[in-house]
Amino acid sequence: MLGILGSHRNDGATDKMLEAVMAGVQKANETEVVYLEDYPFKPDQGDKKDPVLDELEQKMLESDVWVLAAPTYWGGLAGKMKDFFDCMRQRLVRFDHTGGTHPDRFKDKHYLSITDCYTGAFENWVTGVTDQSFRTIDKVMSAAGVIKVHELVLTNTWGLKELPESKKQTCLKWGQRLNSVKKRDDSTLKRYIELFFMIAFMALITMGIQFGFKLVPSQGFWLRYASFVVIFYVLLGCILHFFTVVKHRRR
Ligand SMILES: Cc1cc2nc3c(=O)[nH]c(=O)nc-3n(C[C@H](O)[C@H](O)[C@H](O)COP(=O)(O)O)c2cc1C
Repeated sequence: MLGILGSHRNDGATDKMLEAVMAGVQKANETEVVYLEDYPFKPDQGDKKDPVLDELEQKMLESDVWVLAAPTYWGGLAGKMKDFFDCMRQRLVRFDHTGGTHPDRFKDKHYLSITDCYTGAFENWVTGVTDQSFRTIDKVMSAAGVIKVHELVLTNTWGLKELPESKKQTCLKWGQRLNSVKKRDDSTLKRYIELFFMIAFMALITMGIQFGFKLVPSQGFWLRYASFVVIFYVLLGCILHFFTVVKHRRR
């Protein structure tokens, strides 16, 4: 398990979250934490590969799970972590003849992401200050074919000396779960089953609204059909908005 810390500090809140997760990993699994500030990497220049990136790439290849921890700076992913992803781009993915990217050597590894902010839990829940940080990590990892295990967020970090006990326990729990991450994780069947139940549930709600609010025109197939489609569409829009915009952890 490889922890990657992309913060200005290696003894701050982000590090404490990362260390708490790593503490849950059992002895049978090897762990290592790299603090990116200790690695003065530069972008590769054509065939001239940066030796520091070589070293980091090797560590990433040798590990099965990455714990990616970086604070939210100015509403986005901390620069050091972003720069690391930018410099690693050529190595994280394979390019086709049009410049399109495809998962390559890191495919089917796993990652857990961590971010934090000064903003309080309620404000972050409402405004999603940390969303962009998670989104950036997810975008890079999904391009590389790396599978997400979970994301952890810490709010209220201003003046924080120790992690709240509940947060420490959550980190520990997820660290323990990393021990049993499967090598291959094809969740396609699970997604189709989820989709089935989502559609069944939405159809039920749609028909409930139609009948409950007497929105079923007494006659005419097309009118009934139109009423169903409009209600279903609104519900689908809300559900998709929730899963694509609001789904990140905020508290
Ligand atoms: C340069 C910088 C920018 C930050 N920007 C934000 C921000 O926009 N919103 C926020 O809630 N917290 C912000 N923070 C707080 C960080 O997200 C983080 O919670 C804090 O630095 C503690 O993490 P650390 O101890 O690992 O450094 C910022 C901190 C720094 C140093």
